[in-house]
Amino acid sequence: MSTAGEKRSNDGLLPSTVQPIAAGALLAPRTVSRRTQVALIFGVILLSLLGLRVNFAPYVDVPQLATGCPQVDALVPQRGAELYANISRLVATPDFKTKAINLPSGAVQVPATIETLIAQGFKPTRTVVIAFGFDEEVSGPQGAKQLSAAMCGIYGENLPFAFILDECEGFGEAYGSIFATPAVAEKGYLDVRVEVTSPGGHSSVPPPHTSIGILAALLVKYEDNPYKAELSRSSVPYQLVQCHATHGAQFPKKLRKLARRSVNSDKALSKLRDVLVESRQFRSLIGTTQAIDIVQGGVKSNALPEQAWALVNHRLSTESSVAETKAHDTALLADLAARFNLSYTAFGEAQTPADAPAFGTLTLIDAYGRALDPAPVTPLAGKGSEPYQLLSGTIKATFAAHRGLDLAGAGKDAIAVAPSMSTGNTDTKYYWELSRSIFRYNHRNIIGSKDGGMSGAHTVNETLGAEAFLEIIRFFATLILNADESTAI
Ligand SMILES: *[C@@H]1O[C@H](CO)[C@@H](O)[C@H](O)[C@H]1NC(C)=O
Ligand SMILES: *[C@@H]1O[C@H](CO)[C@@H](O)[C@H](O)[C@H]1NC(C)=O
Ligand SMILES: *[C@@H]1O[C@H](CO)[C@@H](O)[C@H](O)[C@H]1NC(C)=O
Repeated sequence: MSTAGEKRSNDGLLPSTVQPIAAGALLAPRTVSRRTQVALIFGVILLSLLGLRVNFAPYVDVPQLATGCPQVDALVPQRGAELYANISRLVATPDFKTKAINLPSGAVQVPATIETLIAQGFKPTRTVVIAFGFDEEVSGPQGAKQLSAAMCGIYGENLPFAFILDECEGFGEAYGSIFATPAVAEKGYLDVRVEVTSPGGHSSVPPPHTSIGILAALLVKYEDNPYKAELSRSSVPYQLVQCHATHGAQFPKKLRKLARRSVNSDKALSKLRDVLVESRQFRSLIGTTQAIDIVQGGVKSNALPEQAWALVNHRLSTESSVAETKAHDTALLADLAARFNLSYTAFGEAQTPADAPAFGTLTLIDAYGRALDPAPVTPLAGKGSEPYQLLSGTIKATFAAHRGLDLAGAGKDAIAVAPSMSTGNTDTKYYWELSRSIFRYNHRNIIGSKDGGMSGAHTVNETLGAEAFLEIIRFFATLILNADESTAI
């Protein structure tokens, strides 16, 4: 998972001869009519930078999760029952373990799954597309973007895939229970460059405010007016809280009551919000954030600065949009533009009469042309949510099978599935036209890990336990078998 615009240190490592990896391998012929494809899409490794603007109207219908976080039953392959049993046996053999754990993680688990299925004589009835990118950490301009174009060329742009699975979330412990948390939404993104210009001159005869002084006032204005972090009932973080409240054995009683009442009571909702936003992490999930990350201005101690600018990084609430954020910032600075007598232009629109005399200028622009609306939210309930149910049932079956739990007994409620999202972005932004259901989930086991499963992530000694590795292979095999025989998707 990457955070757009970060991780630039690898710029320059990419040899000019490296070409984008060709479109995902087609692993199975479309033997059964033209049923929707199932795509497994993985982002791997990083190597280049450059963000690209994606314009895409967000979906208007916000998918809701029915109150109380209902759970589906484990989904065990039926038609493929014998094959499934064979794979379950195989994954547990010492020989398979030795072979599998000698391989690196990540991109290897999917091919390992496919090879195992093929070796067992699996003949799919629907197409599975596997697409590997290599520059996900810098937002995928040469990987996912090109793969998306190739797949749109082959399958069309009208949501041809039943669902897409990308890496990101796994399962772990929360409030004394085990939760799998597939990410089903992503925040939006906007970098605003705030630039002030004013006449230069000798600094022994200064005006009351220089470009830098004015910029400072504008930045203070930003920080004095953070975006409101509203907790909306249709937001994914709210639904995650509902799941924790319903299925978390040790979820605080008072908060659970509040969560329950918040379903119908606005007062309870607002109280719940006040408690939850004490966590900076949670606040960042629900609201649009702002961080002043770069500032520059001035050249010499005896010269008035003709120009000063700063960069404000926004991560947009899933309930907001690029247009709304631009309008908010534009309005926020209007008073100060007038007070300092500046000619004001925001995102290409003149805010003050163009020819009126002014002391200087204030200009807002999308700094790198990388603005991104929040991702369409994957449907979680009702029509269109069949892929979410299929994934949920697969997670439950995999978790129970890997621990030898009986689905009629202890295995039934051993793991709950709850929708989630992260504060960063992934390269699935290039796949919005390919499927209505995008999951960022790879069944990584982070139970009991001290660092949220990040053991060494993005640094030396990045590790994944052998059992966790094998469970991921089991997960992919179960998912492919379930998807292959599903009549619901
Ligand atoms: C499962 O394994 C048995 C024993 O190796 C084999 O005879 C059978 O064909 C396998 N079934 C499938 C569906 O692969
Ligand atoms: C704004 O600045 C211009 C240019 O210095 C000046 O002519 C004008 O009178 C100023 N307006 C106000 C309201 O201060
Ligand atoms: C990485 O792991 C090796 C083997 O356990 C250890 O010797 C080394 O100190 C570790 N490096 C870091 C930076 O933790």
